[in-house]
Amino acid sequence: STYNIGFFVGSLSSTSINRILSKALITLSPPDLTFTEIEIRNLPLYSQDYDADFPAPARVLKQAIDASDGILFVSPEFNRSIPGALKNAIDWGSRPWGSNSFAMKPTGIIGASPGHIGTAVMQASMRSVLSFLDAPQLNAPEAYIIFDSDHFGQDGSVSDARTADFLRHYMEEYDGFVRRVLASAPGHIG
Ligand code: FNR
Repeated sequence: STYNIGFFVGSLSSTSINRILSKALITLSPPDLTFTEIEIRNLPLYSQDYDADFPAPARVLKQAIDASDGILFVSPEFNRSIPGALKNAIDWGSRPWGSNSFAMKPTGIIGASPGHIGTAVMQASMRSVLSFLDAPQLNAPEAYIIFDSDHFGQDGSVSDARTADFLRHYMEEYDGFVRRVLASAPGHIG
């Protein structure tokens, strides 16, 4: 069977290297995964005042997470943490209390930086958040991408064979992980 993967790009930049990385991951992914971006750009800043009546962009976000078999985060590291726009989107998805859309969703975390830490500190921070939200996470392989613009085309093509092999392997492992989590989920048939 095929799986719907909802993906978040944690950058609002028009020249985002993480958006390029997301295109590369989709291109190199096994064919049984289909991808839908979950937009974060139009969300207001979350407040509990909205809990009684979520605004339209937040409802769309929650429906998109609910409709996803798995979630993939492709994000930069900002000041050694999660970019505010992405954290805001996660806060929306986690609420109102009692309807955390991330619970039991298989998740993957990957990110690119021009710097040599390759978003590792952001990813550690994300793992705390996703643990609290009861979202199973692909633990290995980890993917800290030091972005070399010579290796990636704007369209998501990857000219460097080692990088392409690594990203293909990452998506194969993510696919297997999503499959295992869903197969063990309560109510799963077949
Ligand atoms: C950065 N950058 C950055 N890089 C990093 O490796 N660790 C960090 O903590 C930060 N902090 C940071 C904060 C802010 C506010 C900005 C704008 C940038 C650099 C960052 O990795 C680089 O700008 C990437 O190109 C951002 O990813 P996108 O937006 O191109 O996908």
